[in-house]
Amino acid sequence: MKKETAMHKKFISLLSSNTANFEDLLEKLENKYNVDGIHFDIMDGHFVKNFAFNESIIKLLRKKTKLIFETHLEIAEPELFFDMFIEAGTDIMTFHPQNCSNLNRALRYLKAKDISTSTALDLEIGIEYIGDYLSLIDNILILSVQPGFGMQKFNESVIEKIAGIKEIIMRENPKITISVDGGVNETNEKKLCDCGVDIIIYGSSFMNKL
Ligand code: DX5
Ligand code: ZN
Repeated sequence: MKKETAMHKKFISLLSSNTANFEDLLEKLENKYNVDGIHFDIMDGHFVKNFAFNESIIKLLRKKTKLIFETHLEIAEPELFFDMFIEAGTDIMTFHPQNCSNLNRALRYLKAKDISTSTALDLEIGIEYIGDYLSLIDNILILSVQPGFGMQKFNESVIEKIAGIKEIIMRENPKITISVDGGVNETNEKKLCDCGVDIIIYGSSFMNKL
């Protein structure tokens, strides 16, 4: 019998967008492509060697749509900027735990503000990094490329990593969702769905089809 593919949410990263008319793009994403959320990559030229977006674009677009907004902070000392992105209207705050001086405090701060907490695990960072804080985490974002740039090749090793993480969260906190970011396309998305990924973030593969 054919294995059923679980439904996943579809988020779009604007990083590799081929238009600067984001209002128009957002309207299409919401009404034509039925996406669930928008993924904003914020880059500081320090943690990653690239720059991307800031809070003003989030604030502007927040007025135009009810889609879920995820802010992916690819920056040093992310906790210094939480308020800025909360005020701009983010729903999910994703950050790299190794960049935080006090992960426990950072997660509790976001929880108190009613923001969904999401920790991004780089290719070389495992769940043990966040293992003590699973009760405070709503989502684990698995990076399937090195952070910093769109259009990179999907790293197949994440499939096994996700299966391992899934097992642990089913035991420790089954409410945690898993998202995958980087190099996802029509060829690898099926494998991701089959291993129980809840949210797929599409970047260049989606933009190239527009
Ligand atoms: C990489 C970013 C990703 C990227 C995804 O640093 O976090 O969100 O935009 O784009 P693709 O799908 O092109 O890898
Ligand atoms: Zn991202």
